[in-house]
Amino acid sequence: MNILILTGSPRPNGNSNLLAERFAEGARSAGHTVTRLDAAHLDIHPCVACEHCHNGSGTCTFHDGFTDIRRTIAKADALVFAAPIYYFGLPAQLTAAIDRFYACGDDLNIPKKAALIVTLADTDPDTAAAAVLQFRKTAEYVGWAEGGVLVATGLGAAGEAKDSPFADQAYALGKNF
Ligand SMILES: Cc1cc2nc3c(=O)[nH]c(=O)nc-3n(C[C@H](O)[C@H](O)[C@H](O)COP(=O)(O)O)c2cc1C
Repeated sequence: MNILILTGSPRPNGNSNLLAERFAEGARSAGHTVTRLDAAHLDIHPCVACEHCHNGSGTCTFHDGFTDIRRTIAKADALVFAAPIYYFGLPAQLTAAIDRFYACGDDLNIPKKAALIVTLADTDPDTAAAAVLQFRKTAEYVGWAEGGVLVATGLGAAGEAKDSPFADQAYALGKNF
């Protein structure tokens, strides 16, 4: 499978990037091809609802970091989102990319498998419930099959995920994807 991991943390050595990397290692060990694109460090303009994409051209008015994501999504068999929880939801960096799915049309609707990895400081997994619901509803809307959700709680400082049980869980999720 061609797997695209879309990360959304501004911290390069942060917890969600670390778990994304562990997922990638597991997936590669099972023979998958993994590409990672970092929505947090690409220049991605928020959708402005201009409807340019729905007026026949199928293209977005912005030509920025999302162009690469769109091209890669079109070729991917699976999509994995990995991000921190910010105020009970996904961070703006990843949300900007997801909102731009609006212009993707049929590139999105090709059947895919999708997974979500979120990291948060709270020890209560329910703090991630809104983000998990957004992921599930979006996947259902575009017809993607759910390949797993990992809610990694109790992770505050960057790098804490390394010695947590979530590192092995992310690896296993990738290996068994
Ligand atoms: C702006 C901001 C908002 C946050 N909001 C929450 C929150 O609502 N609940 C929570 O448990 N942690 C919250 N956190 C903590 C992060 O989710 C947590 O540290 C996470 O592991 C960071 O992942 P990263 O290292 O991949 O960036 C917040 C952190 C920041 C910077």
